[in-house]
Amino acid sequence: MSAPSTPKIARPKGFYYEVKAGQRYLWCSCGRSGKQPFCDGSHVGTTFKPVLFEAKIDEDVIFCGCKQTGTAPFCDGAHNNLPGSYSEDDPESPANRATAAVPHGADARVALDGACYVFSTKRAKLARRGAMAWCKVVTPSSGAQHQSQFYAEMGTGASPVVAANDRHTILFFTEGQGELEISGRHFAFGPRTGFYIRPEEAFRVHNTHPLPVKFFISNGPGQEDLVWREDMPGNFDGTYPHRCAEVDPSQRHAMAERFFQILVHRAHGSTEMTQFIGNIPRSKAEPHKHLYEEALIFLNGAGVVWTENAKTEVGPGDVLFLPRKLSHSVQCVVDGGFDVVGVICPGDNPSISY
Ligand code: FES
Repeated sequence: MSAPSTPKIARPKGFYYEVKAGQRYLWCSCGRSGKQPFCDGSHVGTTFKPVLFEAKIDEDVIFCGCKQTGTAPFCDGAHNNLPGSYSEDDPESPANRATAAVPHGADARVALDGACYVFSTKRAKLARRGAMAWCKVVTPSSGAQHQSQFYAEMGTGASPVVAANDRHTILFFTEGQGELEISGRHFAFGPRTGFYIRPEEAFRVHNTHPLPVKFFISNGPGQEDLVWREDMPGNFDGTYPHRCAEVDPSQRHAMAERFFQILVHRAHGSTEMTQFIGNIPRSKAEPHKHLYEEALIFLNGAGVVWTENAKTEVGPGDVLFLPRKLSHSVQCVVDGGFDVVGVICPGDNPSISY
């Protein structure tokens, strides 16, 4: 009889673990160990060998439980595509029916568990600077530890000059078209386009059309306020000439019924944050957690955001702020699903979960 060469799915998602600097961990790759996610010698007689990992620092990691990962010993999201592993949750289960619904009030923000909240750009009061109206969406004072986000809109004309300062900046245009100027370099933009701006550069939006331009500004690390400049510097960093990220269906990654495409990432120069666009179909995902902090913009659709003890309705123009390690689930209730744009930090793969 030949030795087993297929790993067993120990569990169809990751194992959260706090590793300690200097300690060695022997990860089970065969899936047969009774001490998951670690080796207990059960691979003997199979073609598998355990994978040794020595922690350099104290950190939180997600060890792969499905044994299909391409980045052993850690989860890379491959578990999402295992047949039947993408389990849905029943919104009508007794526990879910008992979950408290938090109504929307006059304020822009609806608080859920922990530091999690949903922010409505439609109900927000906008401040004005020149041609641009804007508001804070995610900042350190609202509980963010890794990123900030601002919402802005403007009619025809040019925005003030916004400085990136010592932060990485990612933009996402939801509506409108025109030209984005980054430290003297000009780029055309249309709806659903992402951009990356290097630290110390600055940007200005030119709306050359009668329709409004609406966009989001994300920074990593986060800042409490936008920083303005009187003039445009000429310091475009030519080491990273590609700053625009457009929707391209050929670049999609499937996650069962869902899919996502990475927009702004490391190749653009963005070492602190990653931006993606994705679609969540009509369904309620099983509750899960991430190691990254996330700001998720809902572009269309309708549904509900769930945390452990609370839920609230979400729709176009809303932003979900999700702290690290917080159990949550997004439910879409309409055909066509939700189109969403997320900025995650730290991390570069939105499909890693536990
Ligand atoms: S648990 Fe295996 S890839 Fe996530």
